[in-house]
Amino acid sequence: MAIVTLSRPNKMVVALALALFAVFMGNSSAHLSPDFYYKSCPKLLSTVQAGVRSAVAKEPRMGASLLRLHFHDCFVNGCDGSILLEDTPTFTGEQTAAPNNRSVRGFNVIESIKKNVEKVCPGVVSCADILTLSARDSVVALGGPSWKVKLGRRDSKTASFSDVVGAIPPPTSTLDTLINRFNTKGLSPRDLVALSGAHTIGQARCLFFKNRIYNETNIDKSFAKERQRSCPRNGGDDNRAPLDFRTPKLFDNYYYKNLLEKKALLRSDQVLHDGGSTDSLVELYRDDSNAFESDFVAAMIKMGDIQPLTGSQGQIRKVCSRPN
Ligand code: HEM
Ligand SMILES: *[C@@H]1O[C@H](CO)[C@@H](O)[C@H](O)[C@H]1NC(C)=O
Ligand SMILES: *[C@@H]1O[C@H](CO)[C@@H](O)[C@H](O)[C@H]1NC(C)=O
Repeated sequence: MAIVTLSRPNKMVVALALALFAVFMGNSSAHLSPDFYYKSCPKLLSTVQAGVRSAVAKEPRMGASLLRLHFHDCFVNGCDGSILLEDTPTFTGEQTAAPNNRSVRGFNVIESIKKNVEKVCPGVVSCADILTLSARDSVVALGGPSWKVKLGRRDSKTASFSDVVGAIPPPTSTLDTLINRFNTKGLSPRDLVALSGAHTIGQARCLFFKNRIYNETNIDKSFAKERQRSCPRNGGDDNRAPLDFRTPKLFDNYYYKNLLEKKALLRSDQVLHDGGSTDSLVELYRDDSNAFESDFVAAMIKMGDIQPLTGSQGQIRKVCSRPN
């Protein structure tokens, strides 16, 4: 072909172009597109939205749980639906790893939406995409912003118990740890502060904020006292409290207002406004809900782009809880 007759410099140009092309293809999120199922599953968006709406109408907290499920999926080996896999004889999955064990929830909602999607277009839509759409629809159902979700992710065939702990930051994290863990996933400090605004909805267990409300000093005293009423020094580990005590069922920017008043529930929330480099972002988002919403949306899209399986990688699972 023409390439064999090319002069040496031209060959180098071709080689460089091929290398660049390979790099581009390796960045597989380039394959994701909001129109991915436009022809193959035109009812996808309405089917997922109906499922999320009815689940959130029944229990508002479910919207929070689905949003968190997507975060925990994406941070562990990419947004590949791996968190949805139950243990099999050949692997122990992510669900019982410390950050997830008895904590992440919403699997039944995703499975039931998947069932409905299979009815309208069997074998076409990945569980990873259903989870990503469900996270967006949850935010919308609780009064938050909407955005176009990029689609085309495929499902993993496996999941890794041991990869969870190093990827999901613990609620005892310092600001440096949070920034580093997010940086590893290609997310900036700005993304970190915006995405933490997800803690405007949902709940946390006493176990995770006990040390903060009894031992920390960067906490409002009356707020700490109030939280201590249902989170004793000893026991009560599973008692829950809202992450945003003001409007726990509304997706708004009061989370940041709480931080300014030292009324964050988790240490990992308060460190975002504790004299460090992210203070000004917390103040910006408190003052300007439009800035919060647009940065949150941009960061959600970035998070949804973490290492997806695309093309012929992985599979389209028949049910979300096990590989085909
Ligand atoms: C920045 C680091 C983060 C840490 C340390 C963290 C930690 C936690 C912890 C400890 C809980 C309570 C779990 C329990 O009690 O069982 C929680 C709940 C939650 N997290 Fe995060 N999180 C972080 C970031 C995020 C992000 C990026 C999102 C989503 C974009 C998110 C969404 C949620 C939601 C919505 C809940 C409430 C879930 C429910 O009520 O079921 N979190 N988080
Ligand atoms: C997960 O929680 C269950 C129930 O409390 C417990 O028995 C099990 O040891 C936990 N698993 C891990 C890996 O921590
Ligand atoms: C408070 O800190 C002390 C000393 O580190 C520790 O022993 C204790 O368990 C902490 N209390 C709570 C409720 O976490």
